[in-house]
Amino acid sequence: MRSSTVLALAASLSSALAQLQGFNYGATHTDGSFKFQADYEKEFTVAQNLVGTEGWNAARLYTMIQGGSSTNEPTQAIPAAIKTKTKLLLGLWASAGQGPFDAEIIALKAAIAQYGTAFTSLVVGISVGSEDLYRVSPIGIAAKSGYGANPDTLVKYIKSTRAAISGTGLSGASIGHVDTWTAWDNSSNSAVASAVDWLGTDAYPYFQSTMSNGIGSGKALFAEALAKTHAAAGGKDVWITETGWPVSGPTQNLAIAGTNEAEKYWDDVACPHIGKTNLFWYTLFDSGSSPSFGVVGSDLSTTPLYDLSCDNVSNTTSSSSATATKTGSGSSSSATGGLTPSGMGNGVAGANSTASGFATGTGSVSAPTGAAGNNYTSPAAPGGTSGSGSGSGSGSGSSASATPSTPIVGSSASIMKGSFIAALSVAVAAFVAL
Ligand SMILES: *[C@@H]1O[C@H](CO)[C@@H](O)[C@H](O)[C@H]1NC(C)=O
Ligand SMILES: *[C@@H]1O[C@H](CO)[C@@H](O)[C@H](O)[C@H]1NC(C)=O
Ligand SMILES: *[C@@H]1O[C@H](CO)[C@@H](O)[C@H](O)[C@H]1NC(C)=O
Ligand SMILES: *[C@@H]1O[C@H](CO)[C@@H](O)[C@H](O)[C@H]1NC(C)=O
Ligand SMILES: *[C@@H]1O[C@H](CO)[C@@H](O)[C@H](O)[C@H]1NC(C)=O
Repeated sequence: MRSSTVLALAASLSSALAQLQGFNYGATHTDGSFKFQADYEKEFTVAQNLVGTEGWNAARLYTMIQGGSSTNEPTQAIPAAIKTKTKLLLGLWASAGQGPFDAEIIALKAAIAQYGTAFTSLVVGISVGSEDLYRVSPIGIAAKSGYGANPDTLVKYIKSTRAAISGTGLSGASIGHVDTWTAWDNSSNSAVASAVDWLGTDAYPYFQSTMSNGIGSGKALFAEALAKTHAAAGGKDVWITETGWPVSGPTQNLAIAGTNEAEKYWDDVACPHIGKTNLFWYTLFDSGSSPSFGVVGSDLSTTPLYDLSCDNVSNTTSSSSATATKTGSGSSSSATGGLTPSGMGNGVAGANSTASGFATGTGSVSAPTGAAGNNYTSPAAPGGTSGSGSGSGSGSGSSASATPSTPIVGSSASIMKGSFIAALSVAVAAFVAL
């Protein structure tokens, strides 16, 4: 191939990849039981066939490790993705300490060895961690969101991930970190932004209960969160890795959960970014959680709970009529207690072991995430466990209960950064896979 052809091919692939759309996929069901290949296959297939949509074929994961496996086997989301041609934004759980992080790397390498290019060609990025910085921040701590990781630890893990994939079939993969917009907005975390290829941002106006957060302000609050992340990104790509509005659940200050509100948030936030920004919605399916963010209900059917078509949405990203007034009344914060979907399947639970379900033991699960009156909180953290708070954890082994929830991700634009040759090999591999 002539280099000009290669460049053109790479450019067109880049633009195609920039249209990634997907959902977040935890490692557990809402009852806390682990997902296996058939479960992922079913969800990936529904996502690709949602009435009124097309192109929702990417999945963000929170851990590389299959829940319930005693030997840190790679997640069965991988064979499900291969079978359904689902692109993968991989996640390495980074809040459980060095040993469990090393196990994530071992599972990543095992997956490369086991599945080869059928797997690596689907990978659109790797997130080292998820909301780890949020969980060590005052609002995360107040929300009892579980164990997190500080910036130095994440930078160390990012470096070790780069070293681990060097020379493998994933050597060109772009590496990012996913966190709340509030964490990116904190300059004490700038070393993490410097270490990654792209920044993934999580934003939930619904949980921003110290602000005027009615659905009419959802678009503006989201835009503000995205703008603050861009301000911290130094020109690097920003991927929307989690956002959504619940179809049911408690009212958070002015934010009412409901299908009408969820549809408006989809129209205001998802539609303008489709095809323009890598977008991982929260979420496809979490029936049984409260609040519940799923676009499909308990039957996991391809008919969504509300119109996802964007047919008559104007698609302007700027604007946003809604002005978010930060009233900051603390009043609503009293609504504490569980602003996040605690307990249900994706709930993060801060158990150390949880994240990956593989368990190293320790139980200590801390409370589920719920953030209470914070400006922000994320619903389910990846870690998964569902849980309810306390936990006892026992030991080692295999089944630790918690599994991470699923993440999705992927962006493509960032693939073009960094080593061009490496990026190109990934792009070509992706192309071949198409
Ligand atoms: C969980 O992980 C954190 C972070 O590594 C660590 O400080 C804590 O001691 C661990 N808890 C248990 C019970 O192992
Ligand atoms: C800012 O980030 C640092 C490092 O992660 C953290 O220790 C601190 O609590 C954060 N501050 C706020 C206000 O979130
Ligand atoms: C949006 O589309 C629906 C059905 O396609 C239609 O009934 C409705 O009038 C449209 N709304 C606007 C503002 O165009
Ligand atoms: C808005 O964007 C969506 C998704 O790309 C598209 O389906 C829809 O037709 C667009 N609406 C308009 C009015 O351009
Ligand atoms: C939360 O909102 C209040 C009121 O607007 C603001 O003062 C505070 O800085 C916000 N905190 C974060 C972490 O964004």
